[in-house]
Amino acid sequence: MKLILLGPPGAGKGTQAKRLQDRYGIVQISTGDMLRAEVAAGSEVGREAKAVMEAGQLVSDDILIRMLAARVDRPDCAKGFILDGFPRTVPQAAALDTMLASRMMELDAVVELKVDDAALTDRIAGRYTCAACGAGYHDSFQKPRVTGVCDTCGGTRFSRRADDNRETVGARLAAYHQQTAPILPHYAAQGRLQAVDGMADIDDVTAALIALLDGLVTGR
Ligand code: AP5
Ligand code: MG
Ligand code: ZN
Repeated sequence: MKLILLGPPGAGKGTQAKRLQDRYGIVQISTGDMLRAEVAAGSEVGREAKAVMEAGQLVSDDILIRMLAARVDRPDCAKGFILDGFPRTVPQAAALDTMLASRMMELDAVVELKVDDAALTDRIAGRYTCAACGAGYHDSFQKPRVTGVCDTCGGTRFSRRADDNRETVGARLAAYHQQTAPILPHYAAQGRLQAVDGMADIDDVTAALIALLDGLVTGR
């Protein structure tokens, strides 16, 4: 299964992609996570991306398209993948079409998580992840069962993203509306665009996604 999860910053793309990858045996490809790894490693790409990401703007299409093509060719993608954070511009969407066609691959669905902008700042400002395993949490909406201890791995160190502050969120939302939302009609025209209510509780969003995706699998 090959999917794109689309939605503004804080929509729940990462939260849901992690759940879907276990259920369908496919891999989450988060371009944001890949870029953060490059920044942490101090690579050439990371040095170029760091300031752009901290300003809440988009890293260049060239870098992202190259990065994604290399990732899709890794063997763990053979059973399928969920794109989380790519494509994010019209040129990236066009490049993805070409990339998939040349590999005889086809997208099963493009799912937009629909959320109100007003909810996003609180979601992003409260987010944190386990430093050891990357499991995601939220100060109010998704607390670990035991305060300060990761449910998944028992880790006790957590981190927050450099771009998760109220100032940068405004720039990230503007980038979404100006540069990313224009790809929605591209996928609607292909007949692949579906929408799920991203304002529901996390478990209910997962249930809606599974209902939609199971329907696609059985409807094949
Ligand atoms: P990226 O890492 O992709 O960030 P983003 O798109 O801003 O999205 P987020 O990760 O903030 O949100 P999410 O939808 O994953 O939400 P989450 O599930 O964590 O990109 C970062 C930067 O990298 C970009 O700004 C750009 O500079 C660069 N970049 C990346 N890809 C690029 C590309 N293709 N081209 C150019 N530049 C690129 O949820 C958020 C929080 O809310 C969590 O705490 C969660 O617990 C909580 N939550 C989730 N769902 C719900 C719910 N239903 N109810 C209540 N709380 C919820
Ligand atoms: Mg994310
Ligand atoms: Zn953990």
